[in-house]
Amino acid sequence: MKIAVVGTGYVGLVTGTCFSETGNTVTCVDIDQKKIDKLNSGQITIYEPGLEKIFLRNQKEGRLFFTNSLEEAVKDAAIVFLALPTPPGEDGSADLKYILGVSADLGRLLKPSDYKVIVDKSTVPVGTAEKVKTAILQNATEDISKAFDVVSNPEFLREGVAVDDFMKPDRVVIGTGSERATKVMNDLYAPFVRQGNPIIFMDEKSAELTKYAANSFLAVKITFMNEIAQLCEKLGADVDMVRRGIGSDERIGKRFLFPGIGYGGSCFPKDVQALAKSSTEVNYEFKILDAVMDVNEKQKLHLIPKISQYFGGDLRGKHFTLWGLAFKPNTDDIREAPALYIIDALVAAGATITAFDPEAMPNVKVLLGDKIRFAENQYDALQDADALVIATEWNEFRTPDFDRITKSLKNKVIFDGRNLFDLEHVQKLGFHYESVGRRAINN
Ligand SMILES: NC(=O)c1ccc[n+]([C@@H]2O[C@H](COP(=O)([O-])OP(=O)(O)OC[C@H]3O[C@@H](n4cnc5c(N)ncnc54)[C@H](O)[C@@H]3O)[C@@H](O)[C@H]2O)c1
Repeated sequence: MKIAVVGTGYVGLVTGTCFSETGNTVTCVDIDQKKIDKLNSGQITIYEPGLEKIFLRNQKEGRLFFTNSLEEAVKDAAIVFLALPTPPGEDGSADLKYILGVSADLGRLLKPSDYKVIVDKSTVPVGTAEKVKTAILQNATEDISKAFDVVSNPEFLREGVAVDDFMKPDRVVIGTGSERATKVMNDLYAPFVRQGNPIIFMDEKSAELTKYAANSFLAVKITFMNEIAQLCEKLGADVDMVRRGIGSDERIGKRFLFPGIGYGGSCFPKDVQALAKSSTEVNYEFKILDAVMDVNEKQKLHLIPKISQYFGGDLRGKHFTLWGLAFKPNTDDIREAPALYIIDALVAAGATITAFDPEAMPNVKVLLGDKIRFAENQYDALQDADALVIATEWNEFRTPDFDRITKSLKNKVIFDGRNLFDLEHVQKLGFHYESVGRRAINN
């Protein structure tokens, strides 16, 4: 099949590349000319494990193309995916300007005799499929009412394991009332569900809401554990024990029970906010979501009072090492990353920071310039720091060389927002160690 993917960011690039991997011919479009030039020269634009290999292979095989021309991409495509940003607007609702702008352009490009399925892959509020349809029709110069269907096909991939998630999805959700579009989508996704994971067909509105419900539920689960962690600290319980105790109950499940310094990224924060806003618009107060947002805001700064208290309430002139900048491991995405909030708070309190992240430093450099320093590796970052602060659970931070940490740091002090280390172990090594929901090791 010939496919166009409009928007070549995290979702668009993974979507386009994975569809080309199953033999489709895919053209990805973006308005960012630099991105298109880079991709056309065989360079990948995001860090995503496993993506580069299939990107290069399919580009070489002549199945994966990149352009800045919507017209060129859409011309021969049977399916057009919209993988465009839906950032929060000023009031917290999803801003549909990118989606509706491209929809209007599609209206001008579609031809009455050339049926296409227009697929919303972006995360969009309930009713967007209808708005996309209207925008297309309003901008048509001919009668194209039978020349397209709009389908909602939300994406559930996780950054860091996006290729695996896309190639072997837990489920594919497709919202459409059109038989013709159902057949097209079923054929397209057949190679991805060979192991029996379902393609779940439903109406457009339910598909749109499914995505927000999934992300919001996960945000609730994380936040619930973060609140249990707060309580553990106050009551002297150990959140790791509680986590294991409840996670073995199948109704609760083991995953997403790890407490930390809050969720970040490009999805959970904006999707929880957008669902809360959508609820308000229909006069429904989704109370749990308001609580989740409130708790998460505070959780990102969970380590700051601990750090401040350790240093006697005055962080002026203190120097910190920060391990981890990305909002989670295996990605270079720093959108809403808790690390950025920690940086702001420490710098505002008069401290300086040297950071290391295996992939996200270039993005932070663009954002923060010389507000902080960056190190070549995790150990160089430690030189003469008053303490180590951990914000992202990259694998290489999990079993570090503690001798090198000891030699480089001024004080043997670690504040760990991701509970990477065993309490007994760091106690034996003589570190002062504070984490989330566990007793402080006061060496
Ligand atoms: N990132 C994720 O993990 C993830 C997962 C599931 C769903 N989503 C959803 O998918 C959507 C896209 O997210 P993302 O993370 O890929 O965003 P992104 O910001 O990484 O990528 C969006 C791309 O669209 C391009 N763009 C903007 N306007 C354009 C236009 N008029 N024509 C062509 N290209 C244009 C931008 O230049 C950018 O490259 C969002 O709705 C998001 O909520 C994201």
